[in-house]
Amino acid sequence: MASRICDSVLVTGSNRGIGLELVRQLVDSPSPPVQIFAGCRDPSGPRSQALQELAQKHRDVITVVQLDTTSLTSIAEASKLVETKLKGRGLNLIINNAGVNVPGSLAETGIQEMVDVYTTNVVGPMLIVKDFHPLLCKAAAQFPHQTNMSCKRSAIINVSTLLSSITRCPENFSVSPMYPYRVSKAALNMLTRCLAEDLKKDGILVMSLHPGWVQTEMGGPKAPLTTAESISGLIKVIASCTEKDSGTLLDWEGKNIPW
Ligand SMILES: NC(=O)c1ccc[n+]([C@@H]2O[C@H](COP(=O)([O-])OP(=O)(O)OC[C@H]3O[C@@H](n4cnc5c(N)ncnc54)[C@H](OP(=O)(O)O)[C@@H]3O)[C@@H](O)[C@H]2O)c1
Repeated sequence: MASRICDSVLVTGSNRGIGLELVRQLVDSPSPPVQIFAGCRDPSGPRSQALQELAQKHRDVITVVQLDTTSLTSIAEASKLVETKLKGRGLNLIINNAGVNVPGSLAETGIQEMVDVYTTNVVGPMLIVKDFHPLLCKAAAQFPHQTNMSCKRSAIINVSTLLSSITRCPENFSVSPMYPYRVSKAALNMLTRCLAEDLKKDGILVMSLHPGWVQTEMGGPKAPLTTAESISGLIKVIASCTEKDSGTLLDWEGKNIPW
């Protein structure tokens, strides 16, 4: 029987796109997590219908959690609910997937665009980690092999992008200038790097992952990858990560992307 990727996982922004497909493939895997917490900011709204249907079908595994990653109140209530549902166990894995992009040439970008995108793409994941840190520590402490790091034990995955790479910028800038998005995701990578150093002592693995260019509302219809293709790769990468990967940026095929 295939090994379980982890016992419990929280996915933010899981009502559509990459987040929804992550929840779908995790629950449909041969050995699904015991508990999947599917965060979305408007659980009863029309954009959450597909997630609600999936959750209905897998009631014993999926809990839909109201979670606006830019709201302190929403994060605090979500972490309380997750803690209650875990019944004394820790939370193994957080996938900070919720993210936004806006048209972002120099001419199109002002204070509001920079601040809004930064708030969702950087401040949100940071606040989530702060609030859920005790539950991740608890999961790490409960793991039998105390020296190993893995997503099975305790981990944070920040969904980043190739466009965050300062090294690779010259080869893709003209196709997608996107100032607010690129700058925010480069900052998200620094958050990954800082957290990887900081949380090493707790046994928590932290990394950034690039899902590829994917057909979602954000990726658009010209993207070469379907969500199914991207996520099946991402899940393999997530399942195989160890401490040597903590603090790195990998793509959906497990290849390293330079900062
Ligand atoms: N698609 C690509 O080609 C691609 C490539 C590289 C990286 N990525 C990254 O992958 C992640 C997912 O992207 P996607 O393509 O699936 O985008 P998407 O289709 O636009 O979906 C974005 C998701 O994030 C949620 N979200 C946005 N702001 C939120 C907030 N404040 N609180 C909670 N949820 C929030 C959205 O919820 P609502 O429905 O409520 O708006 C939605 O569920 C993002 O971090 C993105 O940067 C995507």
